This record gives sequence, C-alpha cells and structure tokens, in this order.
Amino acid sequence: MKRLANVLETCSSSELRSLLQAAGRAALIAGKIVRELYEKPHTITMKGDIDLVTEADIASETAIVASLNENAPGIEIMAEESYDGQADTRKGKLWVIDPLDGTTNFAHGVPIFAVSIGLLENGQPMLGIIYCPMQDELFCASLGGGAWLNGRPIKVTGTEFLLQSLVATGFPYDIHKHLSRIVSHIKTVLPKVRDIRRCGAAAVDLAYVSCGRLDAFWELDLKPWDTAAGCLLVKEAGGRVSDFSGRNFSPFKTEILASNGRLHPHLLELLS
Ligand code: IPD
Ligand code: CA
Ligand code: CA
Repeated sequence: MKRLANVLETCSSSELRSLLQAAGRAALIAGKIVRELYEKPHTITMKGDIDLVTEADIASETAIVASLNENAPGIEIMAEESYDGQADTRKGKLWVIDPLDGTTNFAHGVPIFAVSIGLLENGQPMLGIIYCPMQDELFCASLGGGAWLNGRPIKVTGTEFLLQSLVATGFPYDIHKHLSRIVSHIKTVLPKVRDIRRCGAAAVDLAYVSCGRLDAFWELDLKPWDTAAGCLLVKEAGGRVSDFSGRNFSPFKTEILASNGRLHPHLLELLS
C-alpha cells in the first residue's frame, strides 16, 4: 500500500501504524466491492420514506468488519448497518464505519460516494480514512500526522472572503423535522457565497474541505459514522470543525461546521 507509506511514518506509535494499515486495507477491499456492484442492478430496501439500503451497503460493511476483525482484532465496532446501540462508545478504542456514504447517489448512478472508517479512542478521533472508489481517491489522516490524499499531503484553502468561497451542505433523511432551519440556512448563506454544493455524501464533503476543493461544509442531524473520519481529516489539513455555536466538534454531535478556519467565524454568524 504505497499511498499509505507517508502517513504511516507520521503515526505516533507502532500500534497506530498497524491500525491505520488495517483500516486502509479494509477501505480498499470494501471500495472495490462497491465499485464492482455500481455497474450491476441494485437490490434496494427502505429504512425510511427516502432512506435507502442497497446490497452494496451490506456487502461493504460485511467486508470491512471481517477485514478489521482479522487484522486488528479486539476493537469494538460501530458500523451503520449493524449498529444496535450497544457498543460502549466513549471508552477505549472504537471503529466507526460508514460502509457506503452517499447511498442515494450510488443507487441513482451518481458516482459520488465513499467508504469511511474512523478510529476513536475515548471518544477522540485518532485515525480517519475516506475512500472514494470511483475516483480511486484514498484520503487519510492520523492525529498529529497531517492529512493525505493518495500519499500526498493536503491542506484546506486560504480563502478569506465568503464571496470567493464554494461551500457545501447536506439534507438529513428526517427532512420534515428540520425543513425550516435548513431553508433558513440556505437563505442566509446563499447570497453571501460564490455557490453552494449538495454533493450527497457527508464524508466526501469533509474530504473535499480537507483537500481544498470546498471551503466549508455544514449539515445538521448527522450520525457518528458520517463524520468520525472526516472531522479528523479537516483538522489535520489545517481547518476548523465545530458545532453551529463554535464549540468543539465530536462525532457524537449531530451538527457540524467544517471550514478552512478563516471563514469559520463568518459562517458561524450565518448559521447560529
Ligand atoms: C447520508 C449522506 C448525505 C447526508 C445524509 C447522510 P448515507 O449518508 O452523507 O449526504 O446529507 O445526512 O445520512 O445514508 O448515504 O450513508
Ligand atoms: Ca452516511
Ligand atoms: Ca451509509
């Protein structure tokens, strides 16, 4: 795994290094499965009115869990499709897995989706891997070790003014509960920025903030697996991640504002 070599060197311990290797391997295996299934007809079941699960979500999760249990045994796992609320999430090490972030894109043939694997220790993100299989882009970060894309260091943009910024947001499945707040955010932000994107995969949005394709991303009502890897990527790329009040972000918080740092106070003002 040549593209992990640089980031492996930055890991603060040999244990973290081997966990990063295990996560990288699992993400690439799962990404290959998702990429192959993308071209084939899908089996879709509904978790809610608009919330889909496909055969790829399940196959990816099964492969990641098997791979991590083989290469990094004994660590508790919180994976979207099998999470039963039982894991002791705030203590010790915990893998937090989104086997396919961007399921709606996947199901509709839009090639923007990712596999996301984060490692938390006592609730703190230590490692983050986001793999976009259709672009073959492997984003990774380790705490204190910077952020990397396919083996090259990445950083957030230096954009200072909202009017020069490209920002992104997302819409939760429970849209009716949040509609007025979401519309009000769009109404406030849209006239102030260059444009807004809705990519359809929160992990990809965060990876794109970390490598400077986007200046910022916000969303409310997210789950730990949407943000566990991406929040570390943004921070390690020199950005800032908080809730809408500017307090420190944790993957157990549901609202996230991730930015290049410079734009953060301006966006906080618009979102609060
Ligand atoms: C969803 C995507 C989407 C975001 C939703 C998430 P899923 O995750 O990240 O962009 O707006 O809030 O739930 O269901 O595709 O893993
Ligand atoms: Ca997700
Ligand atoms: Ca998912």
